[in-house]
Amino acid sequence: MIRQLADVDELFHAAAEQVCRIGQLSFETTGRFSLVLSGGSTPRGLYQLLAQHPYRSQVDWHKVEFFWGDERSVSPDDPRSNYRMAREAMLDQLGVPAERIHRVETERPDLHQVARGYEEQIERVLGQVAGVGRRPPHFNLFLLGMGEDGHTASLFPHTAALHEADRWIVAHDVAKLATERVTMTPPIINAAHFIMFLVAGASKARVLADVLQGPRDPDRYPAQLIHPLTGEVMWFVDRPASECLIQHHRIEA
Ligand code: 6PG
Repeated sequence: MIRQLADVDELFHAAAEQVCRIGQLSFETTGRFSLVLSGGSTPRGLYQLLAQHPYRSQVDWHKVEFFWGDERSVSPDDPRSNYRMAREAMLDQLGVPAERIHRVETERPDLHQVARGYEEQIERVLGQVAGVGRRPPHFNLFLLGMGEDGHTASLFPHTAALHEADRWIVAHDVAKLATERVTMTPPIINAAHFIMFLVAGASKARVLADVLQGPRDPDRYPAQLIHPLTGEVMWFVDRPASECLIQHHRIEA
């Protein structure tokens, strides 16, 4: 489903309503609400809105389990930290207890160890999934953004993490940024019950059309790897970002 909103304010309100609706449904049907946050600049406005009336009273935010889909290799107080952005925009405002905040400890030296530790933490909080082999748990809601190059989380074009089939979290080099990132992988992202992309601004129009309506080339457009197994994927886009989309029935105003 693609929701097209007139501008970024309408986008944030529509997304906030959907997050709260899914939160209520998740508590009713699964007894919990596990929410994976995205980083970058776009979701800040959504997080700020969720901490305000009326959204702050629509979900018991003190019982929500917060995770991150990816993190930069910086300390938690660094202005580039995805954790810090969400903490300042929402978690502090809502007074979320520390035990519900599961951040990626990228200040530690060995990010491969950090990635494994984060997998174990997710399994501790969400529990193991019964069945053959080690299967990823199901987050209730997974928020994602998309870069102008079609990357999502820290799954960048032509990187090894795109083809990860077993691990849920990996640390990997992102040559184009000359840095290391820790990111969730397609197997655990696609196990989520709901996935919500937030994409705003004219600079994303070309890539959004290529990702959604262009030929399949996930090495070039990693966002094309996101197809939930049994869950639902929703794209919340503003009008400038959807300028290149061919309008059809799946695009809702
Ligand atoms: C990150 C994000 C990344 C982000 C896109 C879009 O750590 O940067 O998780 O995947 O969602 O880069 O970023 P903007 O919202 O800033 O355009």
